[in-house]
Amino acid sequence: MKRLSLFTTCLIILVGSWVFLEFVVGGLISVPIPGSVVAMYMGLVIIAILVHISVEDSLFQEFLRPIHETLVDDRRRLRRRVIAVLIPIFLLGYTYSIIAQRANPPGSPRDAHPSPPLELTYKDEVIGAMQDVVNPFRHYEKDDPEAFKAHVENGRRVYHQNCFPCHGDHLDGQGHFASYLQPLPANFQDPGIIPNFQESFFFWRIAKGGPGLPAAGTPWDSAMPVWEDHLTKEEIWDVILFLSDYTGYQFRTFGEAH
Ligand code: HEC
Repeated sequence: MKRLSLFTTCLIILVGSWVFLEFVVGGLISVPIPGSVVAMYMGLVIIAILVHISVEDSLFQEFLRPIHETLVDDRRRLRRRVIAVLIPIFLLGYTYSIIAQRANPPGSPRDAHPSPPLELTYKDEVIGAMQDVVNPFRHYEKDDPEAFKAHVENGRRVYHQNCFPCHGDHLDGQGHFASYLQPLPANFQDPGIIPNFQESFFFWRIAKGGPGLPAAGTPWDSAMPVWEDHLTKEEIWDVILFLSDYTGYQFRTFGEAH
């Protein structure tokens, strides 16, 4: 049997080490190795090979022989041509892989809370200026606790009939559809959500859903449905009461509500 040349042996050791790290350790044994660590090991393997072939001049000459042959020897013309074709193909694939990555979502995140329109509408009916509209049932909280409770209960019903598959049983955005959605459903238990918005903002988001988001809410499509097609105005205001009642967070007000 013909002995493998030193060059081929080194190449096999190099590729074999990489396959071992990536597919045996990383794949079969399932120990995920970060790319930087793999690169470090491969660097060490290359250094070891270089040390080995440079200890003796004769070894170094033997290592270079096939390279030299491939470049100048007439008997190696075919191999030379194959390599001359493979190098541009490799570069083409490499370049393509870099360009293709640019199609990924851009680094800057979408604006999760874009500015609402100036007027709050339900279907085509204008309710009022976004800043000034208050929840028409909020005043019951002080004036008529029984009526308030009835509205919260109605909101609970609306929520559990429509919203929990995405926003979760506990309003924490962990519904069973959530893991399939990008962007994720809003988490109302996050202290940075409800206290930062007026109820009218939530009315707008619930009524118009993902399709009603302005351009700043793109590029990713929101799965949030357009609820004005399915819920009455009262049901939307009631589910908003339920969201703050259940989580214990107060919506932002500017002192206009009583
Ligand atoms: C099909 C899944 C789905 C259902 C059902 C759903 N939502 Fe959403 N919702 C989302 C997603 C995804 C987002 C985040 C993206 C966005 O802001 O549009 C969201 C966002 C929201 C927001 C915006 C919160 C913020 O921080 O701006 C509100 C309010 C909201 N949902 C309320 C509701 C209510 C109330 C219901 C039930 C009537 C409901 N959602 C039903 C998927 C859903």
